[in-house]
Amino acid sequence: MTAQVVNGKEIVASRRERIKQETAALKESGVQPGLAVVLVGDDPASAVYVRNKIKACEDAGMLSEAYRLPATTSQAELLALIVKLNEDPRIHGILVQSPLPKGLSEEEVNETIAAEKDVDCFHPVNVGNLVLGKEGFLPCTPAGVIEILHTCGVPLAGKHAVVIGRSNIVGKPMALLLLREHATVTVCHSRTPNLADITRQADILISAVGRAGLVKREHVKPGAVVIDVGMNRGADGKLCGDVDFADAAEVAGLITPVPGCVGPMTITMLLNNTLQSARRAANR
Ligand code: GUN
Repeated sequence: MTAQVVNGKEIVASRRERIKQETAALKESGVQPGLAVVLVGDDPASAVYVRNKIKACEDAGMLSEAYRLPATTSQAELLALIVKLNEDPRIHGILVQSPLPKGLSEEEVNETIAAEKDVDCFHPVNVGNLVLGKEGFLPCTPAGVIEILHTCGVPLAGKHAVVIGRSNIVGKPMALLLLREHATVTVCHSRTPNLADITRQADILISAVGRAGLVKREHVKPGAVVIDVGMNRGADGKLCGDVDFADAAEVAGLITPVPGCVGPMTITMLLNNTLQSARRAANR
């Protein structure tokens, strides 16, 4: 192996420690940041993500409330809960875990969460601010990736960043944040022919597809930075990313592991958004 492996645990621990101290200071002045996490149905992976988010919140000294609703919950019941949380002054962030069970509209949920409590940055107003480069919440996973790149001292201005995946949660906002950093950005997706010809031009390659083993050594330019946003279950039942780690690490210069890097960094950015939101509420 030639690649240096990003020490995700260390980066996450140091960032969370800072958030914990800032949370304590804000609490001291009378405002405890509060996050409400809503889980509908019994998807086992979502249940794990929600548990991790709640635990991280508590560890940071924030108030956290979990709402676990049955898969039979109606759209009206879900929206009524969101409206109640919108009006609750103890709550500064509202997150509805996706995917929702069939029949429930994520779009309507995202539009109902008050924009000033939308710590996922899914509300159209916040997405608009992101596109325009205006101040506001940053989407957690892409913001976490940028934070990892900054912490590792990876230069972005003028570099070619290739993003694989065009989802609303990761691919599209990732491209926007890289543009803010003055990178030249290419977005590839399932209809892109000759994927490796494009990804091999990347100084920074970010995969956010959800397919184990998609990125192999032939996709990577020697010395490139490889960021794996994928979260998949491999044939052996173990958690793995989109990148064939052992293979790609032979040619990459720097590579992130899965699990233990982008996932926990995403939760760290969620805590940061909740803290930011509580600060804004305290100043109002
Ligand atoms: N499901 C997968 N990732 C996310 C996320 O970042 N936020 C929410 N709300 N649901 C998700």
